[in-house]
Amino acid sequence: MDAADVSGDLEKVLFTNDEIQARVAEIAAQIDADYEGRDVLMVGVLNGAVMVMSDLQRAMRSHVEMDWMAVSSYGAGTQSSGVVRILKDLNVDLDGRHVIVVEDIIDTGLTLSYLMSNLASRNPASLEIMTMFRKPDAAQMEVPVKYVGFEIPNEFVVGYGLDFAGRYRNLRDVGTLAKHVYS
Ligand code: PRP
Repeated sequence: MDAADVSGDLEKVLFTNDEIQARVAEIAAQIDADYEGRDVLMVGVLNGAVMVMSDLQRAMRSHVEMDWMAVSSYGAGTQSSGVVRILKDLNVDLDGRHVIVVEDIIDTGLTLSYLMSNLASRNPASLEIMTMFRKPDAAQMEVPVKYVGFEIPNEFVVGYGLDFAGRYRNLRDVGTLAKHVYS
């Protein structure tokens, strides 16, 4: 699905699939260089991070593993509730591992703020964050992010894993959702 398929639902396209893939390739090369000689374990946060995890790992040249967590921070609407619950925990032990948490978006920072302290307590050798998108103007908690794809305005965006009520994740481009869709 690309923007043309849901053009009536979008206000504007912020990033095309080509722009996203080019940025993902840059970050993958940076991670390859930063972690040379060390195996990385990427921890994806379901469901939004599925797309970026898939593209990021395939753009890398080094060995890399993946595991997944599911947390609940949002309801079906557009506002963060601030409540974080672990719905699915990791399968692997983080002890001594070089871990990169992979997210589609950091909005308020509440989810990752909770998750980072939880993961840090599991004794990883290192712990960093990669997020495809970040909204600096929405931040309520500052989280140290090593790899950021794009900073975006504080608007409701969909596509590339970002959903509204479960839809639009499979949109390859990323755009702002027209208000008539969610209001
Ligand atoms: C989104 C996103 C992050 C979180 C960021 O997940 O994937 O996990 O919200 O928001 P925050 O910085 O305000 O905490 P969501 O709970 O919408 O679930 P999803 O990944 O399944 O869409």
